[in-house]
Amino acid sequence: MKALIAYVSRTGNTQTMAEYIAEGLRMSGYQADLKKVSEIKNIKDMEGYDAYIFGCPTYHRDMTEGMKQFLFLAKEAGLENKVGGAFGSYTHSGDAASIIFDTMENVYNMNMTSLGHLLIKEKKISDQEGIKACQDYGSELGKKMQEIA
Ligand SMILES: Cc1cc2nc3c(=O)[nH]c(=O)nc-3n(C[C@H](O)[C@H](O)[C@H](O)COP(=O)(O)O)c2cc1C
Repeated sequence: MKALIAYVSRTGNTQTMAEYIAEGLRMSGYQADLKKVSEIKNIKDMEGYDAYIFGCPTYHRDMTEGMKQFLFLAKEAGLENKVGGAFGSYTHSGDAASIIFDTMENVYNMNMTSLGHLLIKEKKISDQEGIKACQDYGSELGKKMQEIA
């Protein structure tokens, strides 16, 4: 079973989270592909996955323009009932991940992880705790893929 982790990251923090989430999936025996949203040009690039995990940092209390455009594309990808999760790094308000999670749940009607969205402060991402939180998020999404298969 395979998950797509699609993310935006300007300065690398959310990318680091994406890599640890992928590690958590792989440690639990699942495959994970990491792609920047800018690499996903059409819905074909999103086909063939059992779970979708989208990540975006918060800038100006919002997600980035690139993520907004990507979410319009993803709407056409037929993600209904697929397993979903959302994450992002932040410093103080961390709005993006929860907005993305809500869209996946209420607009795409995905089967979202009961863990909710994963937010980690930028300074904590590479702490033991931050790494573990990302890995656990990945392995939990793996379990959910298994459950609904
Ligand atoms: C211009 C600017 C605006 C930001 N606005 C917010 C914000 O509104 N809320 C927040 O929690 N973090 C904000 N941040 C912090 C970023 O979310 C944080 O640095 C994040 O780790 C960046 O992730 P990235 O390295 O993946 O791009 C802002 C950072 C910059 C440089």
